[in-house]
Order: sequence, then structure tokens, then C-alpha cells
Amino acid sequence: MLVEVLEALQPRAGQKFADGTLGGAGHAAAILGASAPDGWLFGMDRDEAALEAAQQRLAEFAPRFELRRGNFDELADWIPHASCAGVLLDLGVSSPQLDMAGRGFSFAEGPLDMRMDTRQPLTAADLVNHESEFELAKIFWEFGGERQSRRFAKAIVEQRKAKPLTTTKQLAEFIERLAPRHGKKTHPATQVFQALRIAVNDELGSMRRGLDAALKILQPGGRVCVLTFHGLEVRLLKDWGDERTRDYIVTGEIDDPLLRKPRVPEMRWVQRKGLQPGAAEVNANPRSRSAQLRVLEKI
Ligand SMILES: C[S@@+](CC[C@H](N)C(=O)[O-])C[C@H]1O[C@@H](n2cnc3c(N)ncnc32)[C@H](O)[C@@H]1O
Repeated sequence: MLVEVLEALQPRAGQKFADGTLGGAGHAAAILGASAPDGWLFGMDRDEAALEAAQQRLAEFAPRFELRRGNFDELADWIPHASCAGVLLDLGVSSPQLDMAGRGFSFAEGPLDMRMDTRQPLTAADLVNHESEFELAKIFWEFGGERQSRRFAKAIVEQRKAKPLTTTKQLAEFIERLAPRHGKKTHPATQVFQALRIAVNDELGSMRRGLDAALKILQPGGRVCVLTFHGLEVRLLKDWGDERTRDYIVTGEIDDPLLRKPRVPEMRWVQRKGLQPGAAEVNANPRSRSAQLRVLEKI
């Protein structure tokens, strides 16, 4: 959703931007192109391979950018506060991450890994083979919406006593044996894989802290563009945005209008209803079909 992001950010010469999810740097390159001759970009990704790809992709814009490996929840520890005209968070995994079986994000034969940042010790195999049955069920239900979460967790805990599940294919086939496809298009392990990925990378915690960081580094009038890919991210973003755009604070346990305290809102919604990619983009890149863009502006 390059065009939509550029329309929301409207990059101009002399402005600074932060891309917390560089990936292959398609968005970053477009922002640097549109803010020529002297716009600046701070770029971050927690994936080493993405950072290398971005470095190459952006070489033509040197020296107008600085890149760092890290979680975007650290943006405000690096970038001066109130300095950026725009921040982009294009959440989730990238196509290269999904396509490389060795990263363990897909059903193709690979280690049960799923780490975006390979410096982190926790892998999906650790969760599957050492987490308690209760916690596994909770992960599958809360992060995957998996209706058979308890049954799957129980079966996994039983199975791993005999032989640990260490590859993506083993896990996918194990779930498929528990819940045969019966002609359904989506793989029965889809939700379990999504849930494990979110848990391994603490994606929702990072997102909440990343939004707080974005608010700090934005200058007044600056905008944050967020591309979400599933309902949990949408819910979190809407709640976070609603909270910051309200002109009152809720003081009690529940929102009783009599107990509201007035305050000046920190942000305003520019685009609260998710913008979706057009048919041409979905045809060219089927993975973009679940993307939704929302935009908030700092007051
Ligand atoms: C959908 S891709 C971004 C694609 C990019 N906008 C482009 O134009 O090519 C998402 C990227 O964000 C990174 N990522 C996801 N969560 C992150 C986080 N919390 N901190 C830093 N990078 C993150 C992933 O490693 C991945 O490379």
C-alpha cells in the first residue's frame, strides 16, 4: 500500500521520517525519493537479513539515512523526541521471512524457529516442547483464535513425552492428523502457526510499546501510519488510538460519564476505518489481501 502510505505521510524535503519495519525497504525508498533532496530516514528492523537487504536497496539515497537493528519499541531511545514528520509500522512478517524455509515461519520443512531476531534465545520449538499445557492452550486461543486450542495443547504435551516436535513439517502434520482438512482450503495448523509466531516475537507487546515510542518521536502534526494484518493488531491499534484521541480520562473501573476528567487529546484519527489494498495490488501480491492501513496525527 505504497501509494496510500505516501498520500498519508506526504513526505517533503527537509523532513525526517522513521520506518520501524524496514523489510526490503520498498516504503523507505519511496519516502526517501519523495523527500529529496534532503529528507532523512531512520530505519529499523529486528531481522538481520532484512537490514542487509534494506542497506543495499537504499544505497542510492546515501547519506540521507541511518539504519539500526532492533525492535521498533526502542525507537524513542534512539531518535530525538518530537523530530519526525512521519512514522511507519508495516507489521508482521515479510515475504522473504515466509519464503525461507530455514526461518521456520511456513509449513515447508524447516526448524520450528519463527524468530524475527535470531539473537533472541526463545524459539517456537522451545514453546512447543517446554511450555505447560495450560499456557500452550492459552497461546493457541488468544493469539490464534484456535477453537481446538485445549485439545491441541493436550495432544502436543502427550506427543512430546515420546518425541519432541522440532520441525515445522512435524508440527503441521501432527495438527493435520488431529484435525483432518476434509477438503478445506486453509491448512488446519494455520492458527497454531500464527499464534506461535506472535508469542515467540512478542508481537502485540512490541506493537503497544512501538506505538508509544512513535508518539514520542513524532513532532506535532506528524503522522503515524500502521499496516495491520490480522484482527488482534486491528483491535490493539483501535484501542490505543481511541485512548489517545479522547478528550477525557476514564478515572474508574468502567467509563462512567460522570467520572470523566477532561484533558487535551494527544492525537486525532486521520483514518480510523482500515484502508484496504485495491484489486491490482492483491493480484500482484496475494499476501497483501489482509492488509489494512490506519493513520493517526499527533496534535
Ligand atoms: C511486512 S515487512 C515490512 C516490509 C517493508 N515495509 C517494505 O517496504 O519492504 C515487516 C518487517 O518488519 C519487521 N518487524 C516486525 N516486527 C518488528 C519489530 N517489533 N521491530 C522491528 N522490526 C519488526 C520484520 O522483521 C519484517 O522485516
